[in-house]
Amino acid sequence: MKKISIIYSSNGGNVEVLANEIYEGAKSVSSDVTIKLVSEATKEDVLLADAVAFGSPSKNNNNIDQEELAPFLKQFELTLNNNKPVLLFGSYGWDNGEFMEKFKKLMKDYGFNVIGDLTVNEAPNKDELKRAKELGEMLAK
Ligand SMILES: Cc1cc2nc3c(=O)[nH]c(=O)nc-3n(C[C@H](O)[C@H](O)[C@H](O)COP(=O)(O)O)c2cc1C
Repeated sequence: MKKISIIYSSNGGNVEVLANEIYEGAKSVSSDVTIKLVSEATKEDVLLADAVAFGSPSKNNNNIDQEELAPFLKQFELTLNNNKPVLLFGSYGWDNGEFMEKFKKLMKDYGFNVIGDLTVNEAPNKDELKRAKELGEMLAK
């Protein structure tokens, strides 16, 4: 059974709703799933997991959260990440997903294998919530 971590940043709750849905999907496949705000996550939550989902709102001029998530991820810059599978998700206001392109590039540069991504505008709709759950299942399989 795969060990899954879901780590996210959210101020207004839009990314949190996606994170919860990914959690539900992953939980339906594996009993070893944790979900944490990045402020509560530790390096081990990533290092010991078989696969990780990272979530962020678009902030700081169409980028991932630079206050908490970017510094957390930077810890893995010089780690051998061995192409660990990651799912990236998030929500934007007006950038049309530009932050997600930067997010994907950053994670590839850090040696992770981006196996899926989900980007929504503000609050996720019903279809997007369904997709989030499916991606959670896929991550844990
Ligand atoms: C302080 C702040 C900065 C933001 N900066 C951007 C931005 O640069 N580009 C963008 O597309 N949306 C931006 N947004 C909109 C958020 O990305 C969007 O509302 C998102 O759904 C917030 O997710 P959350 O509810 O999980 O915090 C910003 C919102 C806030 C509050």
